[in-house]
Amino acid sequence: MSQCPFSASPDTFLSLDRFADGLPRGELNALRDSHRILWQPDAFARRGHWLLFQQQDIDHVLQTPDLFTNTHGPLLEDFPPEILADQQQSMTFMDPPQHRKYRSLVDGAFRPQALRMREPVMRQFAREIIDSVIDRGECEFVNEVAIQLPMRVIFHVLGVRPEDAGTVMKLTNTATLADDPDYAENRHAGFLASMGLMEFGTALAADHRINPRDSMTMEVLEAEIDGEQLTDREFGRFFNNLIIGGTETTRNTLGWAMWEFIHHPDQYAALQADPSLLPGAVEEVLRYRSPVVYLRRTATQDLELAGEKIAKGDKLICLLGSPNRDPALFERPDEFDITRPPNATRRNYRTFGTGPHFCLGINQARLNLEIMLGEIVRRIDNPRIVGKPRHARSIFMDGFKELQLAFDPRPVTLRTDGQPAR
Ligand code: HEM
Repeated sequence: MSQCPFSASPDTFLSLDRFADGLPRGELNALRDSHRILWQPDAFARRGHWLLFQQQDIDHVLQTPDLFTNTHGPLLEDFPPEILADQQQSMTFMDPPQHRKYRSLVDGAFRPQALRMREPVMRQFAREIIDSVIDRGECEFVNEVAIQLPMRVIFHVLGVRPEDAGTVMKLTNTATLADDPDYAENRHAGFLASMGLMEFGTALAADHRINPRDSMTMEVLEAEIDGEQLTDREFGRFFNNLIIGGTETTRNTLGWAMWEFIHHPDQYAALQADPSLLPGAVEEVLRYRSPVVYLRRTATQDLELAGEKIAKGDKLICLLGSPNRDPALFERPDEFDITRPPNATRRNYRTFGTGPHFCLGINQARLNLEIMLGEIVRRIDNPRIVGKPRHARSIFMDGFKELQLAFDPRPVTLRTDGQPAR
């Protein structure tokens, strides 16, 4: 087995202390440059896991579900058996062909045409979000801005009532940031919060049957798989997938976007001067600061991978941010540069995974980021960090839980009719 350069240290790369200030990028680059695959000890049942760094190996694992199953979930930790059994009936824990059937039910909601119809309301949300902070000249960016658009959009799509937003967000934070004492007492509380989201989704389905309304929830409940419709409970599992997939990831990306622009004011100014740079800026933030640190798959049989013998049941941990800064794939990989051609960046980064579970909401994610970032640069000058940013305590999600900003409102340009130009 490969030797870890940090083997003097008893802990492993994926340790909460190492991630105290976010993903330790220097260490990850060094590991990637010196290893193709690396065994790391951990405190879970198999006493260890394999780290994968290279794009080709990550692609092979994520694209070959018969050898590397997702039925144990994407987290390093093992779910308690009773919770795992329930989760395995949800799309994100399924392998093909069953997975494909479930995914096809929700695919339509994120196709380009559905997004085009949703775009005006998204722009309106983004304006309202900035309206709510602009006159103060300061805000806590993560909760007042970054989470707001993805949250409002997904609630709008699913028909969640505004009065329930707080409950759903609290459960989502606890489920995804269960290692952070600000959100959860312990890991088990995280598993329970995930179950709580399913319960909420189940009740939302029941509510839609009594009070039908125009939403994706209604469409999914009316759709059929092999002549059968989803039960409320099955819908609840979908709900859990969509809320967890769609909110924290975008929030973290926006937090990092502000961080990078504050540290690269010339690029912020360039974006203000030329909004056609927005798509490239979005892709660059996604490349440079992949919010999902890793995805786990589990070997279904004894096999060989990258020259190592993998035993049935071993965990393969695909580090998504590793290829994103691989010098073999990107020129000047550790430079943040919004002028990179977006298509080449998209082809080579693995921020949204790959294979059958490739992010279902990728188009929605890109549009959320483009609209929110566009509204920020249009209305905010000279953003700056005040106070010490706080990172969420997690080895799975890389992002801030608190980012206090100050800024200058940008003078509003008036149209000939005296209305603000928007
Ligand atoms: C910057 C934003 C986002 C990032 C970085 C991201 C990343 C990812 C990644 C890496 C996966 C693969 C999971 C796996 O293979 O196990 C995934 C799956 C998924 N994402 Fe996203 N995501 C983002 C935004 C969204 C949004 C906005 C939505 C929906 C509104 C969404 C919904 C989903 C769903 C439902 C899955 C599971 C798909 C499946 O199991 O087939 N994501 N996402």
